[in-house]
Amino acid sequence: MIKKVTVVGAGNVGATAAQRLAEKELCDVVLIDIIEGVPQGKSLDLAEAAPIEKHDAHLTGANSYEASADSDIVIITAGIPRKPGMSRDDLLATNRNIIKSVTKEVAKYSPRAILIIVSNPLDAMCHVALEESGFPKERVIGMAGVLDSARFRTFIAAELDVSVENISALVLGGHGDTMVPLPRFSTVAGIPITELISAERIEALANRTRNGGAEIVGLLKTGSAYYAPASAAVEMAESILKDKKKILPCAAYLTGEYGIDGLFVGVPVKLGKNGVEQIISLPLTADEKQALLKSAAAVQELVEAMKKMP
Ligand code: APR
Repeated sequence: MIKKVTVVGAGNVGATAAQRLAEKELCDVVLIDIIEGVPQGKSLDLAEAAPIEKHDAHLTGANSYEASADSDIVIITAGIPRKPGMSRDDLLATNRNIIKSVTKEVAKYSPRAILIIVSNPLDAMCHVALEESGFPKERVIGMAGVLDSARFRTFIAAELDVSVENISALVLGGHGDTMVPLPRFSTVAGIPITELISAERIEALANRTRNGGAEIVGLLKTGSAYYAPASAAVEMAESILKDKKKILPCAAYLTGEYGIDGLFVGVPVKLGKNGVEQIISLPLTADEKQALLKSAAAVQELVEAMKKMP
């Protein structure tokens, strides 16, 4: 059966995700955006690249949600991105309203879909999507940890001058300044990085990871990162579409795991055809646990702030 993925938001992240999905021939792709002509134009442009890129994925663009009906996955990237000096949290009120209206339409036309949320502030937007869709928690997943871990992996590989393919890394917590890179669970060809890199350098790499998004915003000036975020969302979608059951760090709704209840926080999960099929509980040290709880508290603050919004 041909799989169908809808990407809402045909901007930088959404269009790049659509390109990667099609070029990997994972599914047919529907691009949706509020701006007339943009999703249609970008999907036609991508479709016209297909003979050269050698894939038969069908791409269509639309401004309404009929075209998205019965999607297996909906990737939500609609919203505004950061500008220099802005934190992800500054996007809260605007993107909350956008995610609310988008999720309502998406859930109406694709009641069985799995939602991958990309819009920021990520963890808070997952709450909006969970509430507005009424979907079970296993079918609402946030893209953050795969991106943050990929950034950590990039910096570790550069530090050691080894292939990025050798690096496995774990970053947990919310997708913000309080995210928690975990050196103990980050390895090079199976060797923990704590055996290969000094504690001082590891801290520098972890800090660069925490500021990875801001570093790109500072360089681009007119928007935020999109190549790596799109790659991360597509890796999650691929694991679901192919039922690969990859273990990936994602924002998942916790109900007691890690001592956190009723909150989306980044943790390692198993992603398969049912969405989040398992939440992996890691034995954390007291310091790691404290950092994760601090990060969860930052997410909780945003959730509380949203409750006070009209
Ligand atoms: N419905 C559909 N699309 C919308 C809506 C809406 N209600 N509101 C905005 N959009 C569209 C915009 O028209 C735009 O094309 O979302 C798209 C966002 O694209 P960009 O501005 O290029 O932003 P992008 O870099 O893709 O980031 C999108 O992902 O990484 C996060 O922080 C980032 O929240 C931001 C989101």
